[in-house]
Amino acid sequence: MAKTLIKNGTVVNATGTAQADVLIDGETIAAVLAPGSTLLGFDVERNVDTVLDAAGKYVIPGGVDAHTHMEMPFGGTNASDTFETGTRAAAWGGTTTIVDFAVQYPHESVLDRYGAWQEKAAGQCAIDYGFHQILSDVQPSSLTAMDELIDEGVTSFKLFMAYKGVFLSDDGQILRAFQKGAENGALMMMHAENGAVIDVLVEQALAAGNTSPLHHGLTRPWQAEEEATHRAIMIADLTGAPLYVVHVSAKQAVEQIAAARDRGSNVFGETCPQYLYLSLEDQLGASSEEWGSFEGAKWVCSTPLRSKAEGHQHHMWQALRTNDLQMVSTDHCPFCMRGQKDMGLNDFSRIPNGIGSVEHRMDLLYQGVVDGRITLPRWVEITSTTPARMFGMYGRKGVIQPGADGDVVIYDPAGHTSIGVGEGRSHHMAMDYSAWEGFEIAGHVDTVLSRGKVIVDETGYIGTKGDGRYVKRGLSQYLV
Ligand code: URP
Ligand code: ZN
Ligand code: ZN
Ligand code: ZN
Repeated sequence: MAKTLIKNGTVVNATGTAQADVLIDGETIAAVLAPGSTLLGFDVERNVDTVLDAAGKYVIPGGVDAHTHMEMPFGGTNASDTFETGTRAAAWGGTTTIVDFAVQYPHESVLDRYGAWQEKAAGQCAIDYGFHQILSDVQPSSLTAMDELIDEGVTSFKLFMAYKGVFLSDDGQILRAFQKGAENGALMMMHAENGAVIDVLVEQALAAGNTSPLHHGLTRPWQAEEEATHRAIMIADLTGAPLYVVHVSAKQAVEQIAAARDRGSNVFGETCPQYLYLSLEDQLGASSEEWGSFEGAKWVCSTPLRSKAEGHQHHMWQALRTNDLQMVSTDHCPFCMRGQKDMGLNDFSRIPNGIGSVEHRMDLLYQGVVDGRITLPRWVEITSTTPARMFGMYGRKGVIQPGADGDVVIYDPAGHTSIGVGEGRSHHMAMDYSAWEGFEIAGHVDTVLSRGKVIVDETGYIGTKGDGRYVKRGLSQYLV
C-alpha cells in the first residue's frame, strides 16, 4: 500500500486551521501530524513513497457536491455530461465525491430505475459517487422501495412540486412519502416551486408572444418558490420528516427555512453558485451577436436566476454566514447550446433547464473567502463537511482526520484560475459554452487525491476511468 505525506501545508477543516502534515496510508488518512514529520520516533518522510510539498497552500478535504445530474434524461434530451466526463470535470475542480439523482418517472418502478442508474455509473467515474432517488408518482411500491433503498445506501429522496407529467408529485403523494421518511429516517428533499401557478404564467407569456429566455425567470416568480417552500415545510412538520430544500434562490424562501429552523425543525436548505453570482438581469436577460436575446438560454435553470434589484444574492451569502442555509451544491445539469438549449429558440419553455458548474464550485465559493464574506473553515464546511454530514458520509468524507478517506485537495491561494472555453481557460465539462465564461478566480486547485491516489496534479487530470467507487451512505448525521 503506497504511503503519501503532504507536508508543510495549512490543514483546513470546518473546525479550524492548523499547520500540519497529513500522512495517507493506502486509501486512508493515517495521521495528521505536527509539522516536522516524526511519529513515535520514526522519520515519516523517509518512510513514505511520495512527498507532496504544500508550503503556502491549503490542504482541505475534497469537495462533496451533493446535487448533480449526470446524463439525466430531461426536457427531451440528456444532460450532456456522462458520469465519465462529469466526474472528471469535478476532479479538475477539487470535488472528490458527488451525490447524483437516480430518476423514477411516472409509472416506472423505483427499484428498476435505481438499478439503471447504478449501471450507468458503474466503472465510469473518476471520483466516488452516491445516489439520491427521485420519486415522481408515489405508488405503494415506491414506499416499500424507500425502505429497501436505505439498505442500499440511498438515504435521501427528492420530490418535485413542479414539472407536471414529468416529476410532479401532488401534495397527497408528498404526504405519503414524507410519512415514510419520518418512519425510516430518510431525508426528504424538495424542489419547491408551485408548478400549477408557473404553468399558467408560462402559457400566458407564450400567448402574449413573450418567448425569450428572460421570460423563463419572469414566469417563475419568488412567490411560487416561497409558497412551495412553506407548503413543503408544513407537510414535513405534520409528518415529522426531516426536510432539505434544494436549489434555494429566493430570499423569501430562505426566510421560510429560517423560521422553521427557529421553531426547532429539521429543515435545511442548499443554494448553488449561480444564485450567489448570477442574475435575471445580467444573464437571463443577456443578448449576444451570436444568439441575440436567446443568449439567456445559457442560464435557464429552475429555480431561476433571481432579480438583482430584489437583493436575493446578498441574502444567499448572508444565509450561508448565519447557517440559515447550510451548504452549497451545484445542481450540475449541463446542456449544450447547439442541439439542446436551441430546442427552445422560439419558446423558452422548451429550453432544457439546467446549468453546468460541477468543475467550479470550490473555486467560486473560495471567492467568498477572498471577499471576506465567509471564513476559510466555513468554505470547507459548506462545500465538503456539511454535505458529508447531511448525507450520511461524514467521517469518511468531509474531514481531514485519521480514518477518513484520503480525499484531499491542495489548494493554492496564490494561484489563479481563468474559467471559460477559450484558450488557456479552464473548462472540462461536456458543454459547448461555459455559464462562467470570463470569471477570474483568485486561487487554484493544485493537486487532488481520491482515496490516496493523485488524480490531478500540475499536468492536469491523471486518474483513470473507474477510480471512483459507489458510496453506500448512512442516514443523515445532521439532524437534531
Ligand atoms: O434546472 C434545473 N435545476 N435542472 C435540474 C433539475 C432540477 O430541478 O434539479
Ligand atoms: Zn429541482
Ligand atoms: Zn437538480
Ligand atoms: Zn492547474
